[in-house]
Amino acid sequence: MSFDVATLRKEFPTLQQEVDGRRLVYLDSAASSQTPRRVLDAMDEYYEHLRANVERGVYRISEQATARYERARTRLADFVGAPSPDGVVFTKNVTEAMNLVAYSWVRRQLGPGDALLTTEMEHHANFVPWWHAAQEVGFELRSIPITDAFELDLDAARELMADGNVRFLAVTHVSNVLGTINPLEDLIAMAREANPEVVVTVDGAQAVPHLPVDVAGLDCDFYGVTVHKMCGPTGLGALIAKPEQLEAMPPFLTGGSMILDVSLDQVTWNHAPHRFEAGTPPIAEAFGLEAACDFLDELGMANVRAHEEALVGTFVEALTAAEGVTVYGPTDPSKRSGAISFAVDGVHPHDLGAMLDGYGVCIRVGHHCAKPLMRTLGVNATARASLYLYNDTDDLAPLLDGIAEARSFFAR
Ligand SMILES: Cc1ncc(COP(=O)(O)O)c(C=O)c1O
Repeated sequence: MSFDVATLRKEFPTLQQEVDGRRLVYLDSAASSQTPRRVLDAMDEYYEHLRANVERGVYRISEQATARYERARTRLADFVGAPSPDGVVFTKNVTEAMNLVAYSWVRRQLGPGDALLTTEMEHHANFVPWWHAAQEVGFELRSIPITDAFELDLDAARELMADGNVRFLAVTHVSNVLGTINPLEDLIAMAREANPEVVVTVDGAQAVPHLPVDVAGLDCDFYGVTVHKMCGPTGLGALIAKPEQLEAMPPFLTGGSMILDVSLDQVTWNHAPHRFEAGTPPIAEAFGLEAACDFLDELGMANVRAHEEALVGTFVEALTAAEGVTVYGPTDPSKRSGAISFAVDGVHPHDLGAMLDGYGVCIRVGHHCAKPLMRTLGVNATARASLYLYNDTDDLAPLLDGIAEARSFFAR
């Protein structure tokens, strides 16, 4: 690790607060990360100096705001190794990115006789859009099961692809529940072997904030990003795509900014990516995104990953050793990210969450928008502590204390 967490924490205003006289211990970054001061400052800069609409003004501050908005696109392309900035469509979040693909690609290209392959560990954002499309246009939905080690079952995946009918693969890079980092290179190679024409979509919501990501290297067709989990603001996400895919796709949302020409009886769509950005976009958020990419790159994503890999090893080991605690997810830190789901014997996750709140500890409890996976695990809900660059081993004791207290209170 080449950054100092105590110094780093000072950059995050939210983390300076106390809850009932205790230090706020934020262990819910898989839901949404905290925002460093410089990202807030970048958004203020827009509101204080360059507040104007983009892609349409002819006056100075509008042109400057437009240049910054487009610079954020290039910055994100660079940050995730996108094939080209023209393949970066700004959306509201990764959920909207997946819906864009579901409406503009899947519903138009798939039909009866085709199969879409997904997995049992998907967030609803990377499952429900495909399920809905399958209901409406009649293709088959298949899903890759997980093994007892909480990893994708690649043998089962191979069988599910064997008939060559899988035309679309939708998979998460990192599970938001199990923390599992999926072997995307192997899976994509397997899918292309079974059907060289397969189109691949990756949900990068839990990967981009935590790992060095190279979208072009993965050779996927679509890759979804959500900015509020990577130290950036809420309200902004992106679909990273191969530009040739986007250029061949019709728009998802229509209206202003996404056209070249309109008459009463004819509309000509704009080129990608603008064709997919109808209406006024999240401009201040794009300023914030650029600052968030700079912040993460200054730390170095390899360093962020190294820090989290060491930390998740310590947390998983301690939680596994704690009485009455069951961890759901790989034990090998090299195979997992920092989202750690667990159950505490005799304590409902919601009771645990409320008890931990009294210790100033923020965790997520519930189904984590992954109900198919909850069904596979045989639970209604889990507790989830999730780690990020501002967490450290001193966040472990309050978590363990709260768990022990919850057990002595509820599990009698
Ligand atoms: C793996 C994964 N995919 C998708 C999402 C949805 O993100 P958003 O709500 O920003 O669209 C999340 C958010 O928790 C997630 O963890």
